Amino acid sequence: MSSIKQMLENNRKWSERIRKESPGYLETLSNAQTPEILWVGCSDSRVGPDQLIGLPMGSVFVHRNVANIFATNDLNCLAVLEYAVDELKVPNIVVCGHYGCGGVHAALEHSGVQPVDLWLDQLRFVYNRHAEELNQLPPTERANRLAELNVESQVHNICRNTIVREAWKRGQEVNVIGVIYDIHDGLLKQLGVEFRSREAWEAHYGESFSV
Ligand code: CO
Repeated sequence: MSSIKQMLENNRKWSERIRKESPGYLETLSNAQTPEILWVGCSDSRVGPDQLIGLPMGSVFVHRNVANIFATNDLNCLAVLEYAVDELKVPNIVVCGHYGCGGVHAALEHSGVQPVDLWLDQLRFVYNRHAEELNQLPPTERANRLAELNVESQVHNICRNTIVREAWKRGQEVNVIGVIYDIHDGLLKQLGVEFRSREAWEAHYGESFSV
């Protein structure tokens, strides 16, 4: 059976099962979504949030791209953030990187002019900011550390965005947190970057911004 046939067959069975086991569940979900988390993660097929964090459908609003980058000049990223924060009032934003990330390895190994290379330039900026630390590490550790620094950088990009800053200003709950997923043991690790307010974020970065 082809993958597509398998997909459709699996879906039919799943739909039958869920309607039998939980009558009304899909009808309730179809009325509205009230997700608790906006997940910004990598497109890698091994790191989808649904299975990693075991939350039911309707709990996680998802944005994924190569190397989990929150690009402040990317309309897709901005639209997702705006909708999640301003419309859905999602209280938690999780940026999830992962060890063994192909995007991180590609950014370290080469550059070029293909779309994925240009996208990964944003990762190279992170690398350049931390080159002194990273260059002292052997290749695997260097890639893992860059994956961590990338998460911190994307948390920073989200916190400095006007969408989040305006939400904090009006007293809305927005908790931005960075985690990294280890594809070897299936565990998420916190990276010590978690901000619930503009003040907390500014204290961490030692910067002052006027809104
Ligand atoms: Co990846």
